[in-house]
Amino acid sequence: MVENREFTVPARSTTRLARYATLRQLQIFSAIVRLGSFTKASEALFVTQPTVSMQMKKLSTAVGVPLFEQVGRTVRPTEAGLRLEAATKTVFEALGEVEDWVAEYQGLRRGKVRLAVITTAKYFAPELLGAFSREYPDIDLSLKVSNRDRVIERIRAQEDDLYIFGQPDLDDLDVAIHPFAPNPLVVVAARDHPLAGRRGLSLAEVAREPFILREPGSGTRHAMVRAFSEAGVTPTVRMELGSNEAIKHAAIAGLGLAVLSLHSLSVEGARGPLAVLDVEGFPIHRRWWVVHARGRELSPAAAALLAFTRHYEPVLSAQVTDLLAEFGMASAPPDAGAA
Ligand code: PGA
Repeated sequence: MVENREFTVPARSTTRLARYATLRQLQIFSAIVRLGSFTKASEALFVTQPTVSMQMKKLSTAVGVPLFEQVGRTVRPTEAGLRLEAATKTVFEALGEVEDWVAEYQGLRRGKVRLAVITTAKYFAPELLGAFSREYPDIDLSLKVSNRDRVIERIRAQEDDLYIFGQPDLDDLDVAIHPFAPNPLVVVAARDHPLAGRRGLSLAEVAREPFILREPGSGTRHAMVRAFSEAGVTPTVRMELGSNEAIKHAAIAGLGLAVLSLHSLSVEGARGPLAVLDVEGFPIHRRWWVVHARGRELSPAAAALLAFTRHYEPVLSAQVTDLLAEFGMASAPPDAGAA
């Protein structure tokens, strides 16, 4: 009955070959076809010649017709043998794909990823890695936090798998770069600073206040200096400090204003001891970038982390949007921070 057909066991699943032939026989068979000789196949597979002969006898019985014919000193496949060889190739190719997948899967589960990030990315990189390792608990992770110059050296020496960077101007390096989460830069001051809470401050007004700057080579410093110079304004520099945390403490202590990534305020938020000032041209909407060497194939584990950054980007973007709103600022237009 036609309606029942799809419920019957397909006849092909009970073929003699499926029942009586083994993968090992097919492997031996294939070696004989390739090498043209039972002896050479036995040597290549490290089995005795009687074993090869016996296995091929069983295989021909399972197929039902001879698989080889003797031509001089070599053997060559019969028509049935040629067909069996084509099927064998397909089977072993498919099995190879399964093995490749398993190897990759195991590599992915057990690998190691080395991530190096530029200073300010330390505010979210551990969180990113925490979320990643909840999904891939057996992947070992290492995180290096360095300044821009040192991270560039590390890229050159291929010391790590992935990098998180603030500026993608890495033209002389053969790297692939992927846009990541937003990185707004804001002007901060102690909560009791006279400018805190004032709306629409001009850059010129703010520039009269003493500033605490990041060290030369810092991306934050570079963006700040550029913003001031594009406005034709020179900031008053009181001191330079090589750490965002030290700058926050100095600003809280009333030593001056500073331009910092909003990420550096993520733990304390708007209720913390620092206020974000409402200054023209700020926030500067920068972006993070994920970078890796183009010349070297990523390990499965590193590729998994790269893919995970894409998956994690909306989480981080939403945190930035919430933090901006908490400090009373609008989030970036969609195309902002492209560089
Ligand atoms: P920085 O980098 O920590 O060197 O300032 C961050 C950035 O480039 O925005």
